[in-house]
Amino acid sequence: MRKLSSLTLPWPTDWAELFGAERPLIVEIGFGYGQFLLHLAQQHPDANVLGIEIANRCLTHVEAAIDRRRIANARVVHSTAETALHHLFQPATINQLHINFPDPWFKKKHGHRRLMQRDTLDVMVNRLKPGGRFYLATDIIEYAQMSADLLAATPGLDNLMLTPWANEMPGRVPTRYEGKAARQGRESYYFAYRRNDQPPPAVPAVKELPMPHMIVHSPLSLDAMFHAFTPAQHREGDTYVSFLYAYSGRNVLLLEVFVKEPTIDQHVAFLLSERAPHEFSLRLSTMGHPRSTPGLHAAARLLGNWLTSLHPDARVVTEMVKDED
Ligand SMILES: C[S@@+](CC[C@H](N)C(=O)[O-])C[C@H]1O[C@@H](n2cnc3c(N)ncnc32)[C@H](O)[C@@H]1O
Repeated sequence: MRKLSSLTLPWPTDWAELFGAERPLIVEIGFGYGQFLLHLAQQHPDANVLGIEIANRCLTHVEAAIDRRRIANARVVHSTAETALHHLFQPATINQLHINFPDPWFKKKHGHRRLMQRDTLDVMVNRLKPGGRFYLATDIIEYAQMSADLLAATPGLDNLMLTPWANEMPGRVPTRYEGKAARQGRESYYFAYRRNDQPPPAVPAVKELPMPHMIVHSPLSLDAMFHAFTPAQHREGDTYVSFLYAYSGRNVLLLEVFVKEPTIDQHVAFLLSERAPHEFSLRLSTMGHPRSTPGLHAAARLLGNWLTSLHPDARVVTEMVKDED
């Protein structure tokens, strides 16, 4: 089975093509050790069941179980929920979305990393089909209260229950975490919503661009540039670019950079090589499957600024880098 990741899958992905069948799409985010996901696949043989998870050990475990049990309608993808929801799915394509016991570290100050927050919920609503279902379970009362408020303020979703949440969900197969919570005497809170016919929240599409590439003229040598390198952090709007390390090779520098954009984090390397005397080419290394987002173009532009700042006669000769909007 080919390993799937949001860095290597097409944006957006044609799920019918990937599963080899046009069927309703059921998605579980953060499936952990996968009991619930595999049960979904067995319960819905007529659906494509997709799990999204960031933890490698969970992915390996569930990939092996899918293989061993020859479950043809389940696949798992290595991705954060945010990146998958933004980049892999088209609007109105998901029939059921399940989130079970997210964010066990829930603290108010971690708000920006929380799965249940306005922006992420808006993408989920955008990706659900009219009539589609949204299910959430948590064992943290503060998380339940926060989610109830958020869901009540979501015009695209209707509560399927008469109360904000239920404390039992008959017929449910407990997840690993849920079983542990029950054994430790913690109560769980279950939510069930239906996507209605209200217009979907607007979600800006992030376009992939041609790979950034720049030619820089500089009187300096690669060695001088290497010694001038210092780690630095930059911010452009809601994109953060960190220059981490420089590595020196034969006629080449490798510049390790971390780029954080609202929908994706990428850890990439740029290659700086001398293609003619005093003429340097700056381009992305293919290491780690970089996706050419506006954030990577911002990183290339910032590296170009850094290179030209090192000498008064240094200048950019040609660039294929998207300007700031
Ligand atoms: C507390 S565990 C619950 C696992 C499983 N759902 C269960 O109930 O047993 C939370 C899971 O969500 C995953 N996770 C957390 N944040 C995530 C994100 N932003 N995107 C995808 N998975 C995430 C974690 O790796 C972990 O496996």
